[in-house]
Amino acid sequence: MTQKKVRLAIIGGTGVYDPRILDNIREEVITTPYGQAKVRIGTYAGEEVAFMARHGVDHSVPPHLINYRANIYALKMLGVERVVATTAVGSCNRELKPGDFVVVDQFLDFTKGRVCTFFEGGEAGVVHTDVTEPYCPELRQVLVAAAQEVGVAAHPRGTYVCTEGPRFETAAEIRMFGQLGGDVVGMTNVPESVLAREAGLCYATVSMVTNYGAGISPTSLTHEEVLEVMAANSENLKKLLFATLRQIPVQRGCACHKNNPALKV
Ligand code: HPA
Repeated sequence: MTQKKVRLAIIGGTGVYDPRILDNIREEVITTPYGQAKVRIGTYAGEEVAFMARHGVDHSVPPHLINYRANIYALKMLGVERVVATTAVGSCNRELKPGDFVVVDQFLDFTKGRVCTFFEGGEAGVVHTDVTEPYCPELRQVLVAAAQEVGVAAHPRGTYVCTEGPRFETAAEIRMFGQLGGDVVGMTNVPESVLAREAGLCYATVSMVTNYGAGISPTSLTHEEVLEVMAANSENLKKLLFATLRQIPVQRGCACHKNNPALKV
């Protein structure tokens, strides 16, 4: 385990694998009780930042097989306090168009077969974590303000529907998600955001709409289409991430680390 504290982390989703936004990058493989996690650590504006490619550096790990626990635990071991994640999403709300950024504030969990907690009874006891507000309100506010600073249009809230994947949805599922209040649909924010909360980390996601959901989209969905839209918007995403890193206050003003049974590492 590394001794140095790294306060900030970026988890890069689909289309965001390249940590070269940071300087002096080194790679660390961190061994956790849940397996290994690969992190690249670099500096931005004098501050060390950890970068983790959620799907692996070569996008080889599908959403349902990601070792979410190892990833979040590794960040915790590094001393990370704040995590800004990116996600590619489809839209089940016609007002959210491909290319739009959304700073989601709620999720609906439609995953099915994932390990979703660090707390499995035994010594740790039975733990029920509050997720009334599943994303860090302070970090979300920073993302919204950062988007304004750099002139990137971002919807300030939205409900993220997390599906099991790796298949895309049926047209009926997208219709249902829209009726239930879902705005965007992706495959990774649960359990990632939940584990971050269990670990007492502040966590927020900026979702980028890459396509209309199945049945709204006039064409069938492809991963290539998702990658194309991500690539077309990657400069804006980078600008947004930089501004976010600059604006994160040193002290945490939220309750993410206070009201929850922080995981011991
Ligand atoms: N569905 C689920 N996940 C996604 C989509 C989608 O339409 N687009 C990008 N990630």
